Amino acid sequence: MTLAELEQSYGESMAAVRDATDATALDQVRVRYVGRNGLIPALVKQMKDVPAADRPAFGKRLQTWRAELEELLEARKGEVAAPVASGPVFDATLPGQWSVPGVEHPVTQVIAEVARIFGKLGFTVADGPDVETRFNNFTALNTAAHHPSMDAADTFWFDDDLLLRTQTSPVQVRVMTAHKPPVRIITPGRCYRRDTTDATHSANFHQTEGLYVDTRPVSLADLKSTLAYFAREMMGSKVGVRFRPHFFPFTEPSVEVDFSCHICGGSGCRVCKQSGWIEIAGAGMVDPRVYRFVGYDPEEVYGYAFGMGVERIAMIKYGIKDIRHLYENDVRFLSQFG
Ligand code: DAH
Repeated sequence: MTLAELEQSYGESMAAVRDATDATALDQVRVRYVGRNGLIPALVKQMKDVPAADRPAFGKRLQTWRAELEELLEARKGEVAAPVASGPVFDATLPGQWSVPGVEHPVTQVIAEVARIFGKLGFTVADGPDVETRFNNFTALNTAAHHPSMDAADTFWFDDDLLLRTQTSPVQVRVMTAHKPPVRIITPGRCYRRDTTDATHSANFHQTEGLYVDTRPVSLADLKSTLAYFAREMMGSKVGVRFRPHFFPFTEPSVEVDFSCHICGGSGCRVCKQSGWIEIAGAGMVDPRVYRFVGYDPEEVYGYAFGMGVERIAMIKYGIKDIRHLYENDVRFLSQFG
């Protein structure tokens, strides 16, 4: 390279630094000229080929070129590194970042509340599978083979023996078969029936069973006071409770349990169909035949059982008019229960 060519490259390099508009471009210029394999180090190596007469001037010019270029690179670095903000850095009009925390589903909340209330009375939570046997769901609960609830039109059967449980009552059978009295349990869980869905029915719903069996006398009065206590805790102190005679295969005597309608306070409204009462549970004293099926001696034990609909409680507690709201998972509905 001649001295003239050197001057031209010098000019080009300085222009390239001035033209670079960002840090990346600037660095590329630096690498091209002063990097380890850059032009200036290469020219230093070629010094021996420069005619001896020109060599001192050539060497000196390389030195000043390098110094000037590095100085300019340094100066430009400061300029491109700090972009000048062209407006407010913080824009208060932008939508904020936010997230909606989830809430527990009302059915989950009711189940937790049921467990808390009965927990204070010494009941523990027992669990059973959704897929049950004919024996646990029907036979051991003293349900005769021809009972209509066993019909394929009402129950989801897998085969002759296995089914989706139609009630939480089979957990009674499981618990009594596995444990000696006393037993004092509740059993919240899913149940399945071939019901057509409407405002008050769903093919999949929740119940909780309650069972208290002891070797000391347990009476219908105990059942009544327990459920009355539960009603007050769940619905408030003004709630009324009434028992109506009924029939269930697994209890004798059997009752249906109503709470006074909390919407109208008992005077009659659309929700309670003008009766002032809402049916909440079935209950009764455990039938001796059930004790025999689970291996208990009916002469030695006393006990009561009850089964209540969880959605039913959620609906009257929160004033929900259509059970389907509980399954549609519409956030506008669910977020009200936070
Ligand atoms: N299993 C009954 C039903 O699904 C409810 C029931 C009634 C449960 C009486 C009980 C009971 O434990 O004693 O309709």
